[in-house]
Amino acid sequence: MVNYKDLGLVNSREMFKKAMEGKYAIAAFNFNNMEQMQAIIQACVECKSPVILQVSSGARKYANQTILRYMAQGAVEYAKELGVNIPIVLHLDHGDTFELCKSCIDMGFSSVMIDGSHLPYDENVALTKKVVEYAHQFDVTVEGELGVLAGIEDEVQAEHHTYTRPEEVEDFVKKTGVDSLAISIGTSHGANKFKPEQCTRNADGVLVPPPLRFDILKEIEKRIPGFPIVLHGSSSVPQDKVATINKYGGALKDAIGIPEDQLREAAKSAVCKINIDSDGRLAMTATIREVFAQKPAEFDPRKYLGPARDALRELYKHKLVNVLGSANTVE
Ligand code: G3H
Ligand code: 13P
Ligand code: ZN
Repeated sequence: MVNYKDLGLVNSREMFKKAMEGKYAIAAFNFNNMEQMQAIIQACVECKSPVILQVSSGARKYANQTILRYMAQGAVEYAKELGVNIPIVLHLDHGDTFELCKSCIDMGFSSVMIDGSHLPYDENVALTKKVVEYAHQFDVTVEGELGVLAGIEDEVQAEHHTYTRPEEVEDFVKKTGVDSLAISIGTSHGANKFKPEQCTRNADGVLVPPPLRFDILKEIEKRIPGFPIVLHGSSSVPQDKVATINKYGGALKDAIGIPEDQLREAAKSAVCKINIDSDGRLAMTATIREVFAQKPAEFDPRKYLGPARDALRELYKHKLVNVLGSANTVE
């Protein structure tokens, strides 16, 4: 058993309180390896932003749970070495069982998500409550979810989304005791969030997806005022990265994300945590493909992972400043 406090991590409670007051959102970036972790910490230290380091169950299998725990501890020390002691949360992304959540809590996570969104309402309540009861004994914060996001990824699958029903949120929060709530208002996982036929074209011929359901968000805020809301599936799928990938042999078709101005708007509301993973994958892949195409004789991994890490850091800095609004919120 290891408690996150001994690793220098924090839970999300204070972070969300400040984000709510300051009308910004905390970045929740996924990581699976050292380069991603370094890029996240470099960006957040440079921007003086708090951060949530997210680990999916797939990431945990890929990297090994013990290694990830030491990497999170390493991230805390690395930030200090870079000169800013930013608050860092280690969070389980899309936990699907009580056992997985417990195991993460026992291994030093400071926050967990229990994603019961696919279950019937009462089962979601019961599972989430069980996780909260365990987590709160160790002052670990818990994110629950109501409503289903569309999108297909390794471990997260749903064909269609179901928007969160505002009339359920108050009861869910009261019965479960969760610390934050992920909702479905039109975001989805992965790089193909919308089909082109769902979009309209603007004057420049650029595809514009249907807007997020801010009406549902407002209704939720009315019912649980001041309660931290989470947006998953919030990558914007930068078209320059998609173009670079395709230029150098990639085959990404109809990759469409959430416009950044809508996320900026959401960050000013009760949305305190915004999850971004796919955009980082696109930035790394675009850079690696470009290096491979331009330097075909290169075979030192540092020569392509290094530039990929730099591109990732720049992407994250852009997010912190222009999308989340969390830059310069850490003294
Ligand atoms: O929401 C899911 C995250 O992007 C993690 O994806 O399960 O492929 O690690 P993953
Ligand atoms: P994206 O696929 O839009 O980056 O969403 C990531 C996410 O929600 C992780 O939980
Ligand atoms: Zn997610």
